Order: sequence, then structure tokens, then C-alpha cells
Amino acid sequence: MARILITSALPYINGIKHLGNLIGSQLPADLFARFQRGIGNEVLFLCATDEHGTPAELAAAKADKPVADYCAEMHEVQAKIAQGFGLSFDHFGRSSSDANHALTQHFAGKLADAGLISEVADRQVYSNADGRFLPDRYVEGTCPNCGYERARGDQCEECTKQLDPTDLIEPRSAISGSTDLEVRETKHLFLRQSELRDQLDAWIDSKADWPVLTTSIAKKWLHDGDGLQDRGITRDLDWGVSVKKGDQPWDGMEGKVFYVWFDAPIEYIACAKEWAEANGKDDTAWERWWRTDKGADDVRYVQFMGKDNVPFHTLSFPATILGSGEPWKMVDHLKSFNYLNYDGGQFSTSQGRGVFMDQALELLPSDYWRWWLLSHAPESSDSEFTWENFQQSVNKDLADVLGNFVSRITKFCRSKFTEVVPAGGSFGEQEAALIADLTKRVRAYEGHMEAMDVRKSAQELRAIWVAGNEYLQSAAPWSTFKTDPEQAAAQVRLGLNLIRLYAVLSAPFIPDATDKMMTALNSDDRSWPTDVAAFLSGLPDGHAFTVPDVLFAKIADEQREEWQAKFSGTRD
Ligand code: 2FM
Ligand code: ZN
Repeated sequence: MARILITSALPYINGIKHLGNLIGSQLPADLFARFQRGIGNEVLFLCATDEHGTPAELAAAKADKPVADYCAEMHEVQAKIAQGFGLSFDHFGRSSSDANHALTQHFAGKLADAGLISEVADRQVYSNADGRFLPDRYVEGTCPNCGYERARGDQCEECTKQLDPTDLIEPRSAISGSTDLEVRETKHLFLRQSELRDQLDAWIDSKADWPVLTTSIAKKWLHDGDGLQDRGITRDLDWGVSVKKGDQPWDGMEGKVFYVWFDAPIEYIACAKEWAEANGKDDTAWERWWRTDKGADDVRYVQFMGKDNVPFHTLSFPATILGSGEPWKMVDHLKSFNYLNYDGGQFSTSQGRGVFMDQALELLPSDYWRWWLLSHAPESSDSEFTWENFQQSVNKDLADVLGNFVSRITKFCRSKFTEVVPAGGSFGEQEAALIADLTKRVRAYEGHMEAMDVRKSAQELRAIWVAGNEYLQSAAPWSTFKTDPEQAAAQVRLGLNLIRLYAVLSAPFIPDATDKMMTALNSDDRSWPTDVAAFLSGLPDGHAFTVPDVLFAKIADEQREEWQAKFSGTRD
């Protein structure tokens, strides 16, 4: 049994995420986690809310709540929505946890001991109109790299370049819009990433199987001259991990906190400690996932994230780990995604444009969204959500192909053989051909899932559903029954077993439908079909089942139009 550690990029605490965020990390990570558990591997799947930094402070101020209370509430909101989408985290932690505070300070101490942290008199943007220092992302302006006019001071969303606010052309305050800004001196800690450039380069070269999107972004920032600049890792804020060297105070750093992008990835590790604590386990339980000197050398670690997160995960976080000189597990495979657009434009949290996770669940159960999002994942390029496409995909794939198959076979069996798996008859050439075809397809499906090719996996799964439908259409037990009821019994028996095959194979994509199919089949054996032929004789003759309710309702044109109109503007 292999051991697979899976993390999804940590969603920011402020606000509810939209469907573009969901498909960019948490949902494909869940798909992979469910598949790995399904084939029998040991999985630790972790995610958490990313709680520090200015966005949290400002959102709390807007909600008129102390920031700690705001974060605690929003964490619960996000956890509940994640549950609604069936995201099967082993733990959904918080970057504000004690575990993360301690571990972040620990890493900072180790990096300082290794001579990798320098104290620098920094120049920081101060807004006279706002009466405060402006954290990086609250300075906006034109990107010096690509000319995008709404680049933020930490990173340009358009070209992914990591920026410093002073790089921006025509900077303005994102809070007030004021251009009355000045640069003031203050002292900050810098991580000397440039010292680790060769080590990082060699490490990235050792990852031959990374997607091109991942390596090209990493290499670009390593080799484009200023790509691996030393990074400021402290900020003048109240909310965050206070700057300490391990548990010791850090002279001159009083009142400062670590930069949110320094502590957030460390939460991937701290979250495992939170998981252990929440489950009454001791340190060895989480260390065997994260410490290569304590068993993690045989763990395979996979990270999921949107492309804008790639530089932090291929350069900054690895620099923290390598620089610590300690034996922490590093990522083996990094799966990154392009963006999902919304109906002719972009999803936007700040502008409230698109469908947000809570709204989606109010319209339809999560499987509908999971299927559409995963089967249209923005892998090789950006992709777009349109209501027409969503309606078509739900109606065809889920209702016509899968749902209809399940309904037809169970209802036909009930009417001719009662609600039990019928005995009699035997499989002929047509059945042998179907089993051979399905065996090939199941192996291909496993290959795509293993490779995290999300769209290809969805296509193969759909082809597996289609194969059953085509068989049913051509075997036509309703005709066979008139002349050869024994033969019809064999066809129906195969059909019922196919439902169980579909239930088990589809679980990573549409887990609620799987539960319904398994309940209808009166079975809880979810073992993976390593031998497809044997699997298809799994339900014994005489085994009782029930006809399930409709698995997937079709989306009517009027519903689609109503939703399209409802979500055409921005969220209040
Ligand atoms: O882009 C984002 O949504 C960040 N909150 C991702 C953080 S991932 C990790 F490093 F914590
Ligand atoms: Zn840019």
C-alpha cells in the first residue's frame, strides 16, 4: 500500500470562494484523494484556511468584528461549504493555529541559524490619505513586466510575476485610491532565496514528470535575472505570526508579523499536526508523513494549485524547507491549473462576478457541479463556464447516459424478474466483447487518474458509461425476454453488475450518486475492480436491490435562463 500525501492550496479566509477557485485546487485534489483511497492506498489529504495578512484584517474591519472572531466564523462557513461539496479532507485546519505559529517561528529560527535571513532597512509604501503603511497587495498600479493596469504590489495576476509595491508604475492605494503615497524606511527580515538558487534549480531539474505549466513558471522565475530576488518575510501588521526566532524574541522586530506567504505553506505541515491532535494521535503519527527521517521518505507528496500559486510553491516554500537544513518531505508532483472564466469574462471575488460555492449548492446538489467542473478542468488552457454548456453536460452525461442506464435496467428487472439479481442464462460473445472493452477502458481510466489528467479521466469514465448504454441498446433484454427469458436474465444481471462498476469507478467524481447506486444495490463493497470480469459477477444471484429515485434531474431551458439572468451581474 503506497502512502500519498495530498494538499490543496489553502483558500484565503476572507469571503466565500467561487467555482473558479474550487476547480483550481480543492476539487481536483479531492478527486485524486478519493481515487487513491479507492484503489487502496493510504492517503492524508490536508487543506486549511489561509488566515493571516491584510485581506483578513480589512474584511474583519468591514464586518465590524475582531479579526480573530471573524476568522473563526469564516473558517466554519468555509468548512461547511467544503463539506457540502464532498471535499474529503482528512483535516481542514487553520493557518492561525498554535501549531502553525510555532512551526513558522521554528523555520525562521533555523533559517536565521543557517545565515539565510538578513535584516534590511526596507522602504515601504505609506499612504498619507489612509494614515498607514500599505501592505503589498494594497498598492495597485501598472505591472512593469506586462503593462497590466491593475497589478497588485505582491504579484501581477496577469503575468504571475512576483512584485514589490515599489516596482509598480503609477501606484495608488487600493483602499482609498489615493496616489498621495510616499516611501518610508522601516526594518524588515529578508529570506536570502538567491543563496539557494542552485539547489532549487537542481531540485526542479529532478522533477522530470512535472507538467510543463509548472516547470516553465518555476524556471522562468529562476532564470529571468531578478526571478529569485530575496524576499521580505515580515510585515507591519497586528494579525499574524509574531516574528520570533524559534521561541526566542527577535531584537528589533517587536510588533511585526511574518508575511502571510511565509507562514501559509508551512501550514501544510502544521495542519498534519493539527490533524494528529484532533484525532488523539501523537507526533509520530504526523511526522511519518512529513519527516523523511521518521518514515516520510516513502511518501509521495502531491500539491494542487492555480497557476498564480506556482512561484510560491516551486521557489519560496522549497527555499524555506531546503534552507532549514532539516529533513522535511518536499513535494514530488505539483499539479497546477489555468483559470476558469465565467460566461464571457472572469470570475472575480472582488467584483462578486460569477457563481460562488454557497450559491451553487443552493441551486443544485454538488455532484452536478463536480462533474461539470472536473470534466471541464482548465488544464492545458483557460476554460469557460457557460450555462448552456453546463446544462448540456448535465443533461447528456449525467441524466441521459448514466442516470438513464441505472433507471432502465433496475426498472426493467423489477417488472420482469422482481427486485432481485436474476439467475439463469450465460454470457455470450457480446458480453465477452463488452467485458474486454471495459477492462481496457478501466485500465486507461486508472492511468489518467494516476497521472492527474482530470479531463481525460472524465472522458474515459463517460466512455465507460456509454459502453454500458450501447450494450443495453443492442442486447435489448426487453426484446430478448419475449423469446429467451434465460438469456434476458443474464443480460439484466450484467446490467445490474455494471451499475456497481459505475458506482465504484465514479466515486471520485460524483460521490453522492455513488452512495445512491450502492444503496439501491444494497451493497457496501467498494473494492476497486482490479479484475473487471470477476467484478461483473460480483452481485450474487438472488441478491435483493431497490429501484433508486432519479439520479440526476435534467436542467430545463427555463431554469437555465433564470440562473443565467440571476448570475449575470455581481453579488451584493
Ligand atoms: O492564492 C491563494 O488563494 C492562497 N491563499 C494560497 C495559499 S497556498 C499555501 F501556500 F498556503
Ligand atoms: Zn504583469
